[in-house]
Amino acid sequence: MLGNKSIKAALLVSVLGLVGMTLSTQASAACNLVKTTDGSPLGVKASDTDTPQAKQFLDTCVNPYTKAYAKDAEAAKAGKKKFGYYSCTQCHGPNGGGQVGPSITDSTWQYSKHVTDKGLFETIAGGSNGGMFAWHQQLGNPENLNTDDILKIVAWLRTQYKGGGETPWMN
Ligand code: HEC
Repeated sequence: MLGNKSIKAALLVSVLGLVGMTLSTQASAACNLVKTTDGSPLGVKASDTDTPQAKQFLDTCVNPYTKAYAKDAEAAKAGKKKFGYYSCTQCHGPNGGGQVGPSITDSTWQYSKHVTDKGLFETIAGGSNGGMFAWHQQLGNPENLNTDDILKIVAWLRTQYKGGGETPWMN
């Protein structure tokens, strides 16, 4: 039988959980992601299942995978795998070099903000006005990508960059 004590304990745990959620949601507002389509708030929120890397990005706008993958080609393959799994390859080619969709590995960016990981994330997550859907699972189909998946893809795309010149995402 459930004693009064364990009910109280369960209540306490759920209250603590709520407080924790509120705190993490507040913290996640720090990056202020906006839609590429109209500049309004993107609406991607931290979730309980987010990885530490995803939480860090939502807090700071820094994609921790970018520097990690630059040093570790083996680890970067995780991003390439996601790029194939979610059929990005159908429009952008197997290595992001472009097909029906534009190249993502040259210095010609569809939107100037794509030189930052925040900007690239915003276009992939929320779509664009020029023919890209919103790919983030919180903005449409729950089978789609989560924050961590998109960060891994962005970081892998950076390792494929062949455009020369400045690479601000490494700063
Ligand atoms: C149906 C075709 C199609 C698919 C599938 C697709 N894209 Fe795109 N993508 C486009 C088009 C078209 C654009 C150009 C959009 C614009 O200019 O507004 C684009 C643009 C982009 C850009 C900006 C490129 C640049 O040079 O600035 C990125 C990054 C991107 N896509 C990533 C992805 C990822 C990641 C996936 C898979 C989750 C994906 N795309 C799937 C068609 C597609």
